[in-house]
Amino acid sequence: MKLPPLKIGNLIAPIPLIQGGMSVRVSTSALAAPVASCGGIGVIGGSGIDVRELRDDIRRAKEKSSGVIAVNIMYAMKNFYELVVGSIEAGVDFVITGAGFSRDIFKIGKSYNIPIAMIVSSPTLAKLAERLGAAAIIVEGKEAGGHLGTDQSLRSIFPPIRKVIKKIPLIAAGGITDGYEMAEMMDTYGADGVQIASRFVLSEECDVDDAFKQAYLRAQKDDIVLTSSPVGMPGRALKTPFIDKLAQGFDLKSKVCRYQCLKKCDKHYCINERLRASRDGNIEEGLFFSGENTFKMKKILPVAEIFRQFISQAESVYKEKRTPVSAS
Ligand SMILES: Cc1cc2nc3c(=O)[nH]c(=O)nc-3n(C[C@H](O)[C@H](O)[C@H](O)COP(=O)(O)O)c2cc1C
Repeated sequence: MKLPPLKIGNLIAPIPLIQGGMSVRVSTSALAAPVASCGGIGVIGGSGIDVRELRDDIRRAKEKSSGVIAVNIMYAMKNFYELVVGSIEAGVDFVITGAGFSRDIFKIGKSYNIPIAMIVSSPTLAKLAERLGAAAIIVEGKEAGGHLGTDQSLRSIFPPIRKVIKKIPLIAAGGITDGYEMAEMMDTYGADGVQIASRFVLSEECDVDDAFKQAYLRAQKDDIVLTSSPVGMPGRALKTPFIDKLAQGFDLKSKVCRYQCLKKCDKHYCINERLRASRDGNIEEGLFFSGENTFKMKKILPVAEIFRQFISQAESVYKEKRTPVSAS
């Protein structure tokens, strides 16, 4: 059966698939534009860069695609509001936020008539976001890459949130690698769509250094680990020399804070430098965020082919949204 479109506020994505935002500079317009052109929602990672760079990249994405272009900005960023307003003024269609909770962002969304989605891992935050005016909620389980708000699986946290969120779209994120899992989340769990990130690192269009993609392709199950972040949340990443040194307690502090990017930074390393190093393919020094199931993906494909496979797999099993599995 054909997958339904994803309607968020007055936006319509023909395919209910959001490409997860990835910072620093992992999901840029180079990836977001083809995703949007394939009918999904293309998301630019807007954290850790300055507002001018983000605005230029949003304009590039909007020039290349007439589909839905969103931005993902972490509340933990010092220039959060500047990035949000700058993105909207540059023409972004939709703003996604997480890693902390902003009440004011909903007022900004309302004043510009731009839908806002919040990434959460609990029913309490989901309900609060809906009450404050969220246009969609993204439920992210511990399988996700990057910073994590829970140690519980997507399939255990989704049902209690589905039970309380009835009026706005609920999106499932974390560890989804193919269209069968996409259909499972929509059909069995009652998700209105899915958010997928790691699969898109392994696309031809993602413009990280090839060494980043090769590290993903080499990863075995045990090479994807939990680590610490100066943001104060755990993070999921590839086990690289930098992660080993962190675990062994080496002093990895930077001498100077070049980016001044986080509201609160415990400074045990500079996350901005480490993420930029990963984007540049520096296996020794970089922090390579990765979802738990990256080891299952063995091919770099064009974005259009990833969409073709997801849609044909999902539609071969998708029936329709049934009564979701109940919260225990
Ligand atoms: C390299 C990388 C960077 C990420 N950066 C961010 C980010 O800046 N903000 C955010 O909210 N989520 C971030 N995430 C999480 C994704 O947007 C997404 O929700 C999650 O990874 C989904 O799980 P999957 O990768 O298994 O599909 C990142 C994930 C990866 C793999």
